Amino acid sequence: MTTVKTGESGIAGRILVVGGYGAVGEVVTATLAGWFPGRVLPGGRDGARARRGGGVRVDVTDADGFGQVLDGLGDVAVVVLCVEPPDSGIARTCLERGIHVVDIGATPRLLDAVAALHDTAVNAGATAVLSVGVAPGLTNLLARRAHEAVGGAARLDLTVLLGSGERHGADAVRWTVEHLADPVTARPRRTPLPGHGTRTAHPFPFSDQHTLPGTLGVPQVTTRLCLDSRPLTATLFALRRTGLLRAARRPRVQRLLTGAFRGVHLGGDAFAIRADATRDDRHAARALTGRGQSRVTGLVAAYVTRDLLTGGPPPGVHHIEQLPALADLPDTLAAEHGITLHSLDGDPDGAADR
Ligand SMILES: NC(=O)c1ccc[n+]([C@@H]2O[C@H](COP(=O)([O-])OP(=O)(O)OC[C@H]3O[C@@H](n4cnc5c(N)ncnc54)[C@H](OP(=O)(O)O)[C@@H]3O)[C@@H](O)[C@H]2O)c1
Repeated sequence: MTTVKTGESGIAGRILVVGGYGAVGEVVTATLAGWFPGRVLPGGRDGARARRGGGVRVDVTDADGFGQVLDGLGDVAVVVLCVEPPDSGIARTCLERGIHVVDIGATPRLLDAVAALHDTAVNAGATAVLSVGVAPGLTNLLARRAHEAVGGAARLDLTVLLGSGERHGADAVRWTVEHLADPVTARPRRTPLPGHGTRTAHPFPFSDQHTLPGTLGVPQVTTRLCLDSRPLTATLFALRRTGLLRAARRPRVQRLLTGAFRGVHLGGDAFAIRADATRDDRHAARALTGRGQSRVTGLVAAYVTRDLLTGGPPPGVHHIEQLPALADLPDTLAAEHGITLHSLDGDPDGAADR
């Protein structure tokens, strides 16, 4: 692995990876430690575990305490958020101090709250990059490619297939369970996914569909989810239709369901994402397939952080698809980390609802 030499052209200072020993965070920590030796600190609520990795105890539900940790460390250049805080307090705490932020969160309300800190970031000379990961993240980048291929899409349909055999982290499963209770506003759609056949995917509130109308100017964007296991997908979304999963809003039910879902390992660890853009009779689709969505999410966060530290994006709050330097990230991951890219232009099977 290449060690990035800093102090010559890059930004000096340490990197605090919050959630740095979780499913996504451990990949971020390990990848960045390879590039920036001696500069990466994993953080989490388990102080002993964090310190074993050379890190610190932090809690994202306590923004004041988080600020004190940053002040005590004194030389943190960037905070990578690999766990979802309850509000924008942690991002504000970082940006006000001129500390950059990389956020892998996927909740529209929270991303909007951080985006509202744009002027705070500009004034402090700090940058926050949002929509970092697989979905949101790579879905946003593929959406941009498909959108450009049709000369500006009137509509984008994003499809995410997740491996139900992968050991997803507790916080990622909690997020999915919580959003099973959200109201459904679009119809399911059958979409061919390379290597997985044609799948029925169901509307799901990933933040990319919320962000892309603003960043790309596409009026209609819908993201849908399926699992690699067809029976599990059918069961899950049949249950959602009954309304029973609305109980997942209650913390106790949410904890029970999160535990139950984490115990299910019916499929494998392959994942796929696809972006279909349509405008009049034009259609373009871009897809990406790989293994281990937590691993790939962590890699995306590590590459974004490296770009930040080596003088990439301007101050302010940006979504990943707004940063030209990150447009080639899918190609980099394909060349270096075994994911596969697919261009499916003119594939009519993906173009229409059925
Ligand atoms: N953008 C994407 O494509 C994408 C993909 C996957 C996941 N995600 C998001 O990434 C997040 C992490 O997922 P994951 O699978 O890595 O979950 P995970 O394995 O549960 O990791 C969460 C980590 O955060 C720490 N943590 C939990 N609560 C904390 C708090 N209050 N303060 C500080 N640290 C805390 C945990 O350690 P302690 O419990 O010891 O504190 C753990 O290290 C989730 O929010 C998920 O939605 C995004």
